[in-house]
This record gives sequence, C-alpha cells and structure tokens, in this order.
Amino acid sequence: MNAIIEVRELRKRYKDVTAVDGVSFGVPEGICFGLLGPNGAGKTTTIEIMEGLIEPTAGEVLFRNRPIDRRFKEKVGIQFQHTALPEFITVQETLKLFSAFYPHPRPLKELVDICALEEIIDRDNRKLSGGQRQRLLLALAIIPQPELVFLDEPTTGLDPQARRNFWSLIERVRSEGTTVLLTTHYMDEAQLLCDQVAIMDQGRILEIDSPPSLLERHFEGVVVRLPNAGGAAGHDHSGLPADVKRNNGAIELTTTQLDDTFRRLLELGFNLDGFTIHKPNLEDLFIKLTGSSLRA
Ligand SMILES: Nc1ncnc2c1ncn2[C@@H]1O[C@H](COP(=O)(O)OP(=O)(O)OP(=O)(O)O)[C@@H](O)[C@H]1O
Ligand SMILES: [Mg+2]
Repeated sequence: MNAIIEVRELRKRYKDVTAVDGVSFGVPEGICFGLLGPNGAGKTTTIEIMEGLIEPTAGEVLFRNRPIDRRFKEKVGIQFQHTALPEFITVQETLKLFSAFYPHPRPLKELVDICALEEIIDRDNRKLSGGQRQRLLLALAIIPQPELVFLDEPTTGLDPQARRNFWSLIERVRSEGTTVLLTTHYMDEAQLLCDQVAIMDQGRILEIDSPPSLLERHFEGVVVRLPNAGGAAGHDHSGLPADVKRNNGAIELTTTQLDDTFRRLLELGFNLDGFTIHKPNLEDLFIKLTGSSLRA
C-alpha cells in the first residue's frame, strides 16, 4: 500500500483514561479516509497525534514512510473540531491574513471559488452561519495547497442542506489530488464520501475497509422492518427464513429470501403496516459491532 500517512500501535493515556489504545492504520494517497466513532471514541486524539499536535504515549506516525518533521507542517492542512476565528474582520481579510503565513499560498480567487465564499466575502466573521463558518475553515485549511488535509467533524451541527453542500467541497478538494482524512459520526456521510473507513470505539479500531466491502463481509440480504408487529410478542417466528430481532417495539428480519419471508409472515398473521426494506448500511454495521447506536 502506498500510504501517505501511517500510524503504528498508537497509544495515548491520560491519568485515568486511555483515549487511544493501540491503533494502527495507513491512509493510501489520494483517497478520502474516514475515522468513524461515537463521542469519546478517540478520533480527535488520534488525528491530533497524526497532526503532530500532541505526543503519543507510545507508537509512531510516519508521513511518506518517515517520522514527521518540521517540514511536515507545510504539507498538511488542518480543520479543527473547535476553533476560534479572529473577530471584527471579514472573510476576505481572514483569508489574506492566513495566506501571509505561507510561502506558496493558494490564490485567493481559487479559495473563494472552491469553498463558495463569493457571497460572504465582505461579511464579518462574527456574522457567519454554521455552514458558512465551516466553508471558511476549510478554505483556511487548504491555503498551503496541502498534500493531506485533516477535517475533524467538519459537518457536525450543520443542517442537511449545508452538509450536502460541504460534501461537494470535500469531493472537489479530493478530486484535485489532496488526500482527505476526516472524522465523523454521520454514517451517511462516511458511506457517501469515504473510500475507506476505520470504525473506532473506546480507543480501538474495530474494522477498516471500503464501505461496500465491510457491508459485504458482515451482511447478507436485506432488512425488513415491521414497525407495528412488535405487539405480537408471543408470535411464532418458526419457519421464517430470516434472522429475527426486536428493536424498540418493531421487528427486524434480515433475510436473503424475501418472497418466502413475506409469504410466511402473512400466513402467521403478522401486522405488516408501514413495513420498510433497506440494505444494511454502516449504521447497522456499527450496531452489530458494538451493540449500540453510533449517535446514542
Ligand atoms: N486532555 C485530555 N485529558 C484527559 N482526557 C482526555 C483528554 N483529551 C481527551 N480525553 C478523553 O479521551 C477520550 C477520547 O477523546 P476524543 O476527544 O479523542 O474523542 P472523540 O472520538 O474525538 O469524541 P467526539 O466525537 O466527542 O469529538 C475521551 O474519553 C476524552 O474524555
Ligand atoms: Mg472529537
């Protein structure tokens, strides 16, 4: 694998918390790589170690097969999970201010174009909406024309439309050849954007692969959900060619034999009102791996 960045056996221990507990993975150049996990999984700690901002308790980070050095900082862009913008200056002034820190900044026009900042270019930073702010932060991260950009939960708190808009910006940055490493707890985002995902929980990585391969390895068939059949607690499930689970008053059946499953459900007198069918997604996988919902 041609990894642009790689971590080996990373650990980070705080007094009574192990934030990262032996994490190893590599990010192939040019892809969008997603680090997924619930609150407290260790995502920010992992990427802040990779960014060279905090020291690991153990383990190493390699950028193009070598330990990170001073020049590493010129080659990467960072969008933090929590960050303050300078106040009382406009978007344009902010871009100019930050561009002055780099020897070869990306031209202002390009930043404005890629991150869709035209409309808000003269607006004071204090007046930006959540989505506009994230667009400006992405622009700041790509000023140095980085080879690799780190985005820590870039779409958390945005409305669905703003999230969609932001996804197209990420696609654009990636299509220019920049490797993207992002963290998220939105499964739909990961499924749509990421070529590879690492699923993290309690400081460890549970799985790494492309979303389709992960789903193929873990699931067969489709999930039929019967939201109104849960009352039939005493119902006989025998003869159903499906894996049957109860979930919040509903019944969920995972099956490869849809016809036979429905025939048998009707024979058994199940209430099919409001049924839905979906292919298992990353959210289902997360529940399968950890027993809990990602956003619980
Ligand atoms: N400086 C610190 N001192 C002590 N504990 C810390 C410190 N930083 C992080 N932790 C703990 O390490 C664990 C992992 O935190 P981290 O911020 O990496 O999680 P995360 O996956 O980014 O979560 P979120 O989705 O909420 O951003 C948490 O239990 C957190 O409380
Ligand atoms: Mg975090």
